[in-house]
Amino acid sequence: LILTQDDLKKIAAYKAVEYVESGMVLGLGTGSTAKHAVDRIGKLLRQGKLKDIVGIPTSKKTHEQALSLGIPLSDLDSHPVVDLAIDGADEVDPYLNLVKGRGGSLLREKMVEGACKKFVVIVDESKLVNYIGGSGLAMPVEVIQFCWKFTASRLQNLFQEFGCVAKLRTLGEKAEPYVTDNGNYIIDLYFKQSIGDLKAASDSILQIAGVVEHGMFIDMATTVIVAGKLIEEEKVA
Ligand code: A5P
Repeated sequence: LILTQDDLKKIAAYKAVEYVESGMVLGLGTGSTAKHAVDRIGKLLRQGKLKDIVGIPTSKKTHEQALSLGIPLSDLDSHPVVDLAIDGADEVDPYLNLVKGRGGSLLREKMVEGACKKFVVIVDESKLVNYIGGSGLAMPVEVIQFCWKFTASRLQNLFQEFGCVAKLRTLGEKAEPYVTDNGNYIIDLYFKQSIGDLKAASDSILQIAGVVEHGMFIDMATTVIVAGKLIEEEKVA
């Protein structure tokens, strides 16, 4: 049996849905892993195995998906307390701190997941890192469009000693700026080494006027479900 990365995402997602109980207000995550969880919740509702669920989507995309599955939806204004949120992540460190937002939905994710009693993160093993930024991939920061270059250079300067490079996220061949669900831009930060104290880093990012939110989710996950392949060592005859 050969498991693909998508199979692993689905295994983690289905496992997380076992935490869902009828009557819950649920934060619905965004991305290719969370999509499997939302599909599964829709199916269990259709089958009558789950009842009275209210979903709080973390992006327009998930909103569309959940609508098409017939999951009853609401928002934080009407449901300020969320029982459980299930979402993927781009990086998970040994302390369960996360990087999220490579899909661009970090702001709504952080609002919903910050309001939930339980936050179950679902990843395949490729997302595990020794430290935040350790995958060499981006740590996204959502910024307002106004003078984004100025904000990007302030962000890059903040982490100069860690070899930080700040890049505007763009889309397509024309390299148009990527625009979030909230009408903002994303500045992707790349670090050459660990930035150390995450809380201090978070505070200094959020102090920059023009920054809306960043993709480090510190001390937020309550459970992380990791799906991995069991690798059998080949025996040399
Ligand atoms: C969306 O903006 C992200 O935070 C996703 O949750 C994250 O990028 C994980 O996505 P995948 O499950 O597609 O890897």
